[in-house]
Amino acid sequence: MVEAKLPTHVAVIMDGNGRWAQKCGKTRNIGHIEGAKRVPLVVKHLFSRGVRVVTLYAFSEENFARPNEEVQGIFDRVAEFVEGFSETFGDVRLVFSGELEAVSGRLCAACRQAELTTRSNAPFTLNILLNYGGRSEIIRAARLFSCDSSSDADFRSGLYHPELPDPDLIIRTGGEKRLSGFMPYQSAYSELYFSDVLFPDITTADLDAALEDYLGRSRRFGGIKTP
Ligand code: IPE
Ligand code: IPE
Ligand code: MG
Repeated sequence: MVEAKLPTHVAVIMDGNGRWAQKCGKTRNIGHIEGAKRVPLVVKHLFSRGVRVVTLYAFSEENFARPNEEVQGIFDRVAEFVEGFSETFGDVRLVFSGELEAVSGRLCAACRQAELTTRSNAPFTLNILLNYGGRSEIIRAARLFSCDSSSDADFRSGLYHPELPDPDLIIRTGGEKRLSGFMPYQSAYSELYFSDVLFPDITTADLDAALEDYLGRSRRFGGIKTP
């Protein structure tokens, strides 16, 4: 019997912080604080299950449409996370995807510094999407693309992190069944898993349920199922 293959790269669209706060009669920023508290648990659990690359959708470029106070609150959570990263995660490589130079100078500098400090860490990588736009990433890659080439590899070299494998599994919490601009180029053949759990309520059992579901999928990539 062929053993079912665990995903190499799992992405989490961490949605539902605002609704969690509303449900508890708290401010949206409290929802982001509670959501941020769950991040180490999520990432460590996925690594412990053999996943090598975890991507987290933290802030889309469209999220700048939110009130200033909320945007600042989210950036503060990311800054805290980056500051405590090595202590929390040890030898994990941290990378960012998105237009970091457009977020506050201090946060951008802290993210770039963390990328430098952790760049030789292996075998686990955490990729955080910050001020990320899926269409913007494609436009950026198209700009860098040579018209003489038609290869996928050449186009990919203009993506934020072409060295990362495509996500095998994308988990979205919060009940919405859409990708909201999440890695459109790389998700062409990703398996999708939607959960009603609001991100601040997520547990390791929810992650295990998603991985279990993934193991039952038949990935064909346009071919036919092999026995
Ligand atoms: C996800 O939670 C966090 C970000 C988008 C930054 P939301 O803040 O979108 O939560 P809901 O969707 O309003 O509940
Ligand atoms: C997607 O969530 C982006 C992140 C989780 C960072 P949104 O809450 O921004 O998505 P929409 O607005 O419901 O599509
Ligand atoms: Mg949302």
